[in-house]
Order: sequence, then structure tokens, then C-alpha cells
Amino acid sequence: MIKKLQELETECLKAFSSISTSAELEASRVAYLGRKGRLADILADLPKLSNDEKRSAGQKANEVKSAIEGAFEAAVARIDSAQSAKRAEKEWLDISLPGSEPSVGHLHLTSQAIEEISDIFSRLGFVRARHPEVDWDYYAFESLNMPKDHPARDDWETFFVEGENNRVAEGEKGKIVLTPHTSNAQVREMEKGQLPIRMINIGKCYRRQSTARHLTMFHQFEGLVIDKTATVTELKGVCDYFAKAFFGEGRVTRLRPYHFRFTEPSFELDVSCAVCDGSGLVAGAKCKLCKGGWLELGGAGMVHPNVLKAGGLNPKEYQGFAFGWGVERTAMMRSGLNIDDIRIMYKNDLRFLQQF
Ligand code: FA5
Repeated sequence: MIKKLQELETECLKAFSSISTSAELEASRVAYLGRKGRLADILADLPKLSNDEKRSAGQKANEVKSAIEGAFEAAVARIDSAQSAKRAEKEWLDISLPGSEPSVGHLHLTSQAIEEISDIFSRLGFVRARHPEVDWDYYAFESLNMPKDHPARDDWETFFVEGENNRVAEGEKGKIVLTPHTSNAQVREMEKGQLPIRMINIGKCYRRQSTARHLTMFHQFEGLVIDKTATVTELKGVCDYFAKAFFGEGRVTRLRPYHFRFTEPSFELDVSCAVCDGSGLVAGAKCKLCKGGWLELGGAGMVHPNVLKAGGLNPKEYQGFAFGWGVERTAMMRSGLNIDDIRIMYKNDLRFLQQF
């Protein structure tokens, strides 16, 4: 038995010294020292020996076991240091090199415009308000003098929110819509009962439209002034102030008669074109950007008496004007770029976005 033990020790030490991975080493340790391993196998014959033989075989077995364990520890240390040397070589880092700067982004063109628009109107005393972007039909249409089934509603190609059983969700104030314009803010602001009102509401709008000039999701900014006196002259003054502050000193505006159900009289507001300076001509040819000297900014008008009534106000006591313009179109107009498809604004193309 002593001979077998000695042979086992020699074989095992040789095996451990040639192993190069932790997994192989562990498998080998189990094969030699495990409960069903080679050492246990040899010692299974111990009961067959005389007492004297048992004593010397037991002593030898202890020596062999500790020699094997020692060799195992040495192999572990050897494999570990080889692995960390390999890792150190692979992950070598020169901490004296200068760091690489992370690239810093900036606000989207629309967000930049929103900040600037709020700032311009705040100088005129307009207070920024936030009203729902998903709202009742009542605030988007009915309170704005557009009764149920009125054809004027068709202009606002509306998304209705689906409720249970694929039916349009309906509640105390009608159907639920993704606001097609920010004018839902008008009666909501009046309902607060804090007069006079000088509000600017900037929010997301949604329409079933997607063309080179139309986005499905876009932003509008809605101004509302309600006071004992509020006139078209003041409305024009606000428009002119905004046009000069946002587009530049030389720009002028014009009000063009139009029709909205919630304002009377109603206008479209145009801003003079920067490319042709409002003349409609560039070097004797028709201006390619505006085709007539003017660029359309959006709608405006004097608040309709029915809207004042819906907001709980007496039209004999209060008057007001309102306007609602598109943020994306306004921002595009200033940049002077004749972009042939407005949808590029939300395509997340950095080559475009980084220019602003
Ligand atoms: C309105 O939405 C009225 N609520 C404006 C208003 C407010 C009139 C207060 C009177 C008093 P209109 O549908 O014309 O009007 O939209 C106004 C502006 O929003 C447009 O001139 C345009 O700049 C922008 N706009 C409208 N639809 C889209 C669209 N699909 N994509 C991008 N911009 C749009």
C-alpha cells in the first residue's frame, strides 16, 4: 500500500504541475482527493492490513495527502498569477493620457424656439400656462362655438381616444381627443376666474395629417388676452412686437380676413418674407420661398362672445383677443431655410439637428 501511495503522490504532483486552467485543476483535485477519488480507493484496503501495517500506511497516507494538497495550492497560485498577468496585459491603461471628452448635445430646434417664444411674450406680461394635451371634446370644440356635428370641426382632423370595446372614450364633457390645437386652453383659462388674462400656452397638438408641410404631432403657441378693453389694434401691436423680436427688426406683419368659429372678426397673420423683403420678387423673378412677399404664421382674432360666455364671462363686460401659431413652422420660417419637408424635424437625423 505504501508503494501505491508513493506512486499516487508522484503521479499527482506531475499532473498538477502541467495543468494551466482552474477548471482542469479542480477536476484533477476531485479525481485524486475526492470521496470516490484515487486516494480513497487505495485506502479502502486499509482494513485488510495488520495493525503495524495500518499504522505505517496511515502515516504515509497523511504525508501523501498533505503533499498533494500543498501541490494543489501551489498550482492554484501559479494559475491565478498567470491569469492576472494576462488580464493586466489586455486591460493595460495609461492613466497619464488626457481624458476623452463626452459629446455634449443641445436643445432641439423646437425646444429652443419654445424657450425664446416664452421669453418674448413674458416681456409683454404674458404668463406661461400649461393646459391638457389630451382633453375633452368640450374644450377642444364645443366651448369654442363648434357644436356637436358642426362641419367646422372637420378642419381639425382629430384623433379620438379609444375606450373599451374599441369605441371612442366618452365622459362628462364629451369624447376624449388628442388636442388638435392649443385653443382648448381658452375656456380652461377663463374658468380659473383670474382676470384680467394674459396667457401664453405652448403645447403639443395632433392631427391626422402627414405631408411635406404637415406633421402628425406638432406644437402651437396660443395667446389669450381678456380684459375690460382689448382691441384689434392691441392684437396687431402684439403681432408686430413678436415678429420683430423673433424674426428681426425689418419684419412687418399683416392681418388678413379669415374665418374661425371662435373668433369674430378672425384673421390669418402673415409676416413679411426675409428673402424678398416683402416684395415677392428676387432679381426680377418670383420669390421661391413665399411666392408673394408674405409667409403665413397662423390664426388670430377677437374672442367670440359665445366663447366668453362658455368661460363664464359677460361679453358686455369683457373682451379679448387670441392667436394660435405653429412652433415648427415659425422656427423654420426664421431659419430662412426653404426646407422641402417639415417632417425632417422629427427624424432624429443629427446631420440636420446639429445645424441649429
Ligand atoms: C388653429 O389651430 C387655431 N386654433 C388658431 C387660432 C387660435 C385662431 C386663436 C384664432 C384664435 P390653424 O389650423 O390654422 O388654426 O393652425 C394654426 C397654425 O398651426 C398653422 O398656421 C400652422 O403654423 C400650424 N399647424 C397646423 N397644422 C399643422 C401641422 N399638421 N403641422 C405643423 N404645423 C401645423
